[in-house]
Amino acid sequence: MNVGIDKISFFVPPYYVDMTDLALAREVDPNKFHIGIGQDKMAVNKKTQDIVTFAANAAKNILADEDKEQIDMVIVGTESGIDESKASAVVLHRLIGIQPFARAFEMKEACYAGTAALQYAVAHIKSHPKSKVLVVASDIAKYGLASGGEPTQGAGAVAMLVSADPRILQLNDDSVALTQDIYDFWRPVGHDYPMVDGQLSNETYIQAFQKIWEEYQSRHKKTIADFDALAFHIPYTKMGKKALLAALEDESPEEQERILAKYEASIVYSRQVGNLYTGSLYLGLISLLENGQLNAGEQIGLFSYGSGTVAEFFSGKLVEGYQQQLLADIHQKQLVERKRLSIAEYEAMFNDVLDADIDSNYEDSLLYSIASISNTVRTYKEK
Ligand code: HMG
Repeated sequence: MNVGIDKISFFVPPYYVDMTDLALAREVDPNKFHIGIGQDKMAVNKKTQDIVTFAANAAKNILADEDKEQIDMVIVGTESGIDESKASAVVLHRLIGIQPFARAFEMKEACYAGTAALQYAVAHIKSHPKSKVLVVASDIAKYGLASGGEPTQGAGAVAMLVSADPRILQLNDDSVALTQDIYDFWRPVGHDYPMVDGQLSNETYIQAFQKIWEEYQSRHKKTIADFDALAFHIPYTKMGKKALLAALEDESPEEQERILAKYEASIVYSRQVGNLYTGSLYLGLISLLENGQLNAGEQIGLFSYGSGTVAEFFSGKLVEGYQQQLLADIHQKQLVERKRLSIAEYEAMFNDVLDADIDSNYEDSLLYSIASISNTVRTYKEK
């Protein structure tokens, strides 16, 4: 049975910081951010926008009424949960009007959780071919003002509808996963920002890709030549490229150029947004599909990485007519219409944190946003 991604869309908050502005404010050469890190803009959100509002705004782009009747599972992959107990997927399920006889839950393992959710969805569809599963990867990446990780922040969500006979990407049954207990990036309970060993995280990412890629090639007897493009988890756009370059060392210049050109297509959106954590690989996939000039039948390899660490390499085949399912106009309009914040506005927005213990009402122009807090419960504005 063919199972995979039938529809896919992303949402990012309507504010950004230009990386030249940030570099100048932090007394850093702007080329370090634009070239060294590979980021041009960084998404920033107001306190009235959280992982639920990102998820609902992304999901509304792809769900028809018929889908809402057929979906029997909603999974949110996140490391920015808003409750230690109740899953954001339960709130999302109601907000977007999914039929009641469904499962809804959250998955966690740093940036890998979106992939865990996708693979769980695929397994479910294989045993229930008439079902559809809504998978959303939604996060806020915040490291702190003037911190080492600041230029690699971001925010947003990617929503995917997973089904049998998908109309975009049919997933191959070839995953190779790798788990290693390493403290490269983690966020202890109660901490607002992650603890991060930046250089160790870079090294672990590259080493995980090398290990997994070697194992994948040996298990499946495949090489780079079997892929038309590779997409990576993109904490910042230079990161995937570093891992890719290491794997391409022994390839011919033509082969390197072919794969690197597609890598560039996969980072167009992330350069303008930053790290979405769980959503980053899938934002890269959308960018590749919408900017990569790929043909039906072509093979895409996907490398998912979550600190801590769990990584996975898997692949999919593009379906005939996949272009008709893409939402490039909506995505590009969303990016273009964002407001550029001054550094003072960004810092004020960054520090203006929602306090769940203070009852308040809020105004926000987004389709889905937080409307009020009452007795620690977030009420969401719906359309
Ligand atoms: P840093 O110490 O600020 O930067 O940390 P650096 O000194 O390593 O420089 C970065 C690059 O800029 C270097 O290039 C410099 O040479 C270059 P490289 O050697 O790496 O190719 N550079 C310049 N280039 C041009 N012109 C200049 C210039 N100056 C310097 N003038 C770091 C950077 C990414 C480590 C930091 O921002 C950080 O800690 N970020 C957060 C951690 C992270 O994103 N890690 C990535 C792998 S872990 C992961 O992907 C998981 C994650 O998504 C979380 C999860 O799973 O939940 C993060």
